[in-house]
Amino acid sequence: MRAFEATIAADERIEPRDWMPDEYRASLIRQIAQHAHSEIIGMQPEANWLTRAPSLRRKAILLAKVQDEAGHGLYLYGAAETLGVDREELLDKLHTGRQKYSSIFNYPTLTWADVGAIGWLVDGAAITNQVPLCRCSYGPYARAMVRICKEESFHQRQGYELLLALSRGTEAQHAMAQDAVNRWWWPSLMMFGPPDAESPHTARSMAWGIKRHTNDELRQRFVDICVPQAESLGLTLPDPDLRWNEERGRHDFGAIDWEEFRRVLRGRGPCNEQRLSRRRRAHEEGAWVREAAAAHAAKRAARAAA
Ligand code: ACO
Repeated sequence: MRAFEATIAADERIEPRDWMPDEYRASLIRQIAQHAHSEIIGMQPEANWLTRAPSLRRKAILLAKVQDEAGHGLYLYGAAETLGVDREELLDKLHTGRQKYSSIFNYPTLTWADVGAIGWLVDGAAITNQVPLCRCSYGPYARAMVRICKEESFHQRQGYELLLALSRGTEAQHAMAQDAVNRWWWPSLMMFGPPDAESPHTARSMAWGIKRHTNDELRQRFVDICVPQAESLGLTLPDPDLRWNEERGRHDFGAIDWEEFRRVLRGRGPCNEQRLSRRRRAHEEGAWVREAAAAHAAKRAARAAA
C-alpha cells in the first residue's frame, strides 16, 4: 500500500506486477475495456463508406484509418489483460451490454462528409482526451496511448483535409460538409463524459493519476481548439451561444443536451442496436479463426515440448 502511494505521489508508473488497490485495478479495467470496445465498434460508422469512397486515394486513406482503429483495440485489450482479465470475458461483457463503449459511435454516417467530420471532430476530441492519458499512472495503458495518439493525429488531419476540400468545392459539397459538422458537433462534446458535478469516477481517477484533467476541462480545451479551425475551414459550429469570453480567456458555449447523452447510454441512440448486432455477428463469424489460431498454437507448443 505504501509503495503504491509513494509511486503515485512521485508521479511514477505502476506496473502489472506491482501491488495495487483492488479499486484501482477495477477502475482501470473498466476504463481500458470501454476504450478498447470504442475502438473496435468505432470501425463501423466509417467502414460504411469504404466501398463508396470518391477516389482510390481517399479509399486507401480510409482503409488505413479503419485498420488503425482495429489495431488500437488490440493494444488496449492487451493493456487490459495485464490487469488479469481475459479478452474473451471483456468481449462477452460488450456483447451482452454489461460494458459500455463511447456514445459517439451510435450516430449514423449519412454522407461522405461524415468521414471528414468524424476525423476532424471525433478523432480531434479523442486526441484531446487521450494525450493526457499518455501520462496515466498505469504503465501499460500510458505506453499504449503514445502510439495511439500519433495515429489519431493522422486521422484528425485527414478529416480536416477532407472537409477543407469539400468546403472549397462546389456549393453542394460545401453544404454537405456544413451539414456533417452540424450533426457531429454536439455528440463530439458529449464524448468527454458527463459534467464534472455528475461524474462519479473523476475525483478518484484524478487522485490516482489515471485521469489528469476533468471531463469539463477537456471539453473546454476542445471547444477552444475547434473554433479557429472551423474558421479556417470556412465552416460554422452549430451553437448560437458560442462566443469568446475575454474575462475567462476561453470560449463560452451553449448547453449540452444531457438527456440525449443518457438516452444513447441506455442503448436508445440512433444506431445502438445495429452497432451491437453487427459486432456480435462479426464475433460469431470469426469463431473459426480463433479456433484455428488456438489449434495452431497448441500444435507449435506440443512440437516445442517434444
Ligand atoms: N460514452 C459512453 N459512456 C460514457 C461516456 C461516453 N462518451 N462518458 C462517460 N461514460 C460513462 C463512464 O464510462 C461511466 O460509466 P460506468 O460507471 O458504467 O463505467 C459513466 O459514464 C460516468 O462517467 P465518468 O464518471 O465521467 O467516467 P470516467 O471517469 O471513466 O470518464 C471518460 C469517462 C472521459 C470517457 C474516460 O473513461 C476516458 O477518458 N476514457 C478513455 C478514452 C475513451 O474511452 N475514448 C473512447 C472514444 S475515443 C475513440 O475510440 C476514437
